[in-house]
Amino acid sequence: MNYTFIFLALVAAFGRDPARPLIAPLAATPPMGWNSWNRFGCKIDEPLIRETADAMVSSGMKAAGYQYVNIDDCWMAKERDAQGNLQSDPVRFPHGIKAIADYVHAKGLKLGIYSSAGTRTCEGLPASLDHEVADAKKFAEWGVDYLKYDNCNDEKRPDIERYTAMNTALKATGRPIVYSLCNWGHEKPWEWGRSVGGMLWRTTGDISDKWTSMIGILDKQVGLEQYSGPSGWNDPDMLEVGNGQMSFTEYVAHFSLWALLNAPLIAGNDLRSMSDSTRYILTNKAVIAVDQDWGGQQGSLVHTDGNTQVWAKPMHDGSKAVVLLNRGTTPTSISIQLADLGFTPSTKYQALDLWAHTVQQLDQMLQSGVPAHGAAMFIVKGGR
Ligand code: GLA
Repeated sequence: MNYTFIFLALVAAFGRDPARPLIAPLAATPPMGWNSWNRFGCKIDEPLIRETADAMVSSGMKAAGYQYVNIDDCWMAKERDAQGNLQSDPVRFPHGIKAIADYVHAKGLKLGIYSSAGTRTCEGLPASLDHEVADAKKFAEWGVDYLKYDNCNDEKRPDIERYTAMNTALKATGRPIVYSLCNWGHEKPWEWGRSVGGMLWRTTGDISDKWTSMIGILDKQVGLEQYSGPSGWNDPDMLEVGNGQMSFTEYVAHFSLWALLNAPLIAGNDLRSMSDSTRYILTNKAVIAVDQDWGGQQGSLVHTDGNTQVWAKPMHDGSKAVVLLNRGTTPTSISIQLADLGFTPSTKYQALDLWAHTVQQLDQMLQSGVPAHGAAMFIVKGGR
């Protein structure tokens, strides 16, 4: 009898939080991974995807929780094959998608792919409208684990109809595939995304590597928090961290806010050559733990005062994640009363700084200096 095994099984069964489900469904927490689009656009090929999978492991991204390696637009050949199936570009992906899936799986990672609920993708390549059954079957045969389903060339047919058709086709394959709806917030997908099998849905148009773009998307998340939860996440679009057009401080704010929003954490930079400072941001385990908190409650805007904002997210253990955001161009100090975070001021509280890795005791309020275009992020919890 293997007593160690029995002991570990007992710990696993009884040492866990009883409210937490034993077997996690797909996308039980926001998906984490990488996607080719933000950094590479259509300049993608098989070596890039393989090298990215290698880098995801060697950089520590996999250990930090990233698992999906997602190929965006431009993987497919200009036309379908003689049988009417999607096929990969013969020059850039000569060995096909299955070979890449095998490679990615051998590293303990998962493969994502892209198509559009239209006649053509946004880059004019063949897409899946009216080919849902055949395409989903191919994706499953190839070992695809995640589908990002875009919205270009939609023939003006209703979103719900088009996104339902692919969901039905994916389900029919029997393969668990994360279904990511990318209709840019049209027709309020947060209201119907779950009902068509969506596990995440884009809430806005595309992000770009600019502070104003990131903040513009942030502003559009206000009020959507009620729609997000386990296996159905609001998606404010992929990360731009490390792509070069924002400062380190701005990327820290971007990553902190996306974690507070329970956003899918899909890195969009070149993992093969990322700097230590980019890796430091993307692999901050305390910040990732906020995003991945299994309670799955999205954070929301608590307070705005001129260029400063306070965002807070309830964690499953009763603590709160808090982001103090300085949208202005000069450093400032931001504070929030504990009562405004929903805490009883008579209790003792402490704040863990998730970027400085320090702890401070709190009395009536949380206060911190915050750089221009920057954020500070804390966990506030009871007890000293
Ligand atoms: C749309 C999507 C982007 C990306 C491109 C690819 O713009 O929103 O995320 O997938 O298409 O063409």
